[in-house]
Amino acid sequence: MPPGMAPTPVAPVQGTRAELLRRFVQAYWLRPENALWMTLRSEILSDTPLEHPSIDLACGDGVFSFLHCGGIFDPTFDVFTSIAEFDRAGDEHADMFDCVTDDYQPVIVSPSLDTIDVGTDIKRNMLAKARLLNLYGRLVEHDNNRPLLFDDDSFQTVYCNAAYWVANVDRFLTEMARITRPDGRVILQVKLDGMRRYTLGAHRGILGDRLLDIIDRGRSASWPTIADQATWEARFAASGLRVNAMRPFITRTHAHIWDIGLRPIAPLLAKMAQALAPKTRAAIKRQWVDLFCELLEPLCDPDVDLFAAKNEPAEVQYVLRPA
Ligand SMILES: C[S@@+](CC[C@H](N)C(=O)[O-])C[C@H]1O[C@@H](n2cnc3c(N)ncnc32)[C@H](O)[C@@H]1O
Repeated sequence: MPPGMAPTPVAPVQGTRAELLRRFVQAYWLRPENALWMTLRSEILSDTPLEHPSIDLACGDGVFSFLHCGGIFDPTFDVFTSIAEFDRAGDEHADMFDCVTDDYQPVIVSPSLDTIDVGTDIKRNMLAKARLLNLYGRLVEHDNNRPLLFDDDSFQTVYCNAAYWVANVDRFLTEMARITRPDGRVILQVKLDGMRRYTLGAHRGILGDRLLDIIDRGRSASWPTIADQATWEARFAASGLRVNAMRPFITRTHAHIWDIGLRPIAPLLAKMAQALAPKTRAAIKRQWVDLFCELLEPLCDPDVDLFAAKNEPAEVQYVLRPA
């Protein structure tokens, strides 16, 4: 968007929470626990318009943001249609999504209701996938541990849901403050320390190291700078960002469900799904999606918590302003 143009808010996602959940379950069907998490993320994010010029830092394959911005895929499309490294996705923790095959073709029924001006990610393959969504004006390969390649005051909205993946998080936050316009917003969705407790880790004595290793599969190593709320807020203050709003949206209950989920068997499920004839795959997927929508609907509420005691949330959204 040319400088000086009035920012236009992104229209909120159309449809009900149940419809949104269905779109996420369709896209992430073999990881329904991720679909639940992303639906809650998207719903909370809808409270704050992504005013232009906007940037999505660590956008990955863009599927989350496409669905968040109201795009609709054909039910046959999902993120498991282009994957590799099946056999290394287990103990070697390879990312089975970090590849793009010639036949990767997100089938779009309805384009997103708005665009995002810039998307960035460290993984080239993910950016190649994101390019096919017609969601981003520009895609830039970038490691968030390095200074951002944008001028001061470039963006009205800076969005990131992967800040805790960045080792050099203090510099990353300072950089986000730098590229945000004085009246702009930084929207961060960050995991909190409680996540480390909301696992089966407390039962290591009974379950043993191997079981916990299989469930974790290198996941916690991806979060070098996960922290509690006080630490995040001290980091923001030190980086020139002030908290405008904070909203928890993942409870201890959601985190425990996600902790077990289908993660350890997802590479095998994906391999099985890939071996099916398209018609059979589509038929099984339809039933699978219906079932998981029913199972997840009661939990698809940012405040649902089955634990009696009040606990630290597992993920919160911060809306920040340059100080
Ligand atoms: C959990 S995924 C989230 C992707 C996307 N935002 C979404 O919601 O689907 C984390 C993303 O962060 C990216 N990433 C990890 N470390 C990064 C870094 N240092 N710089 C830039 N991107 C990074 C990964 O490639 C991955 O796409």
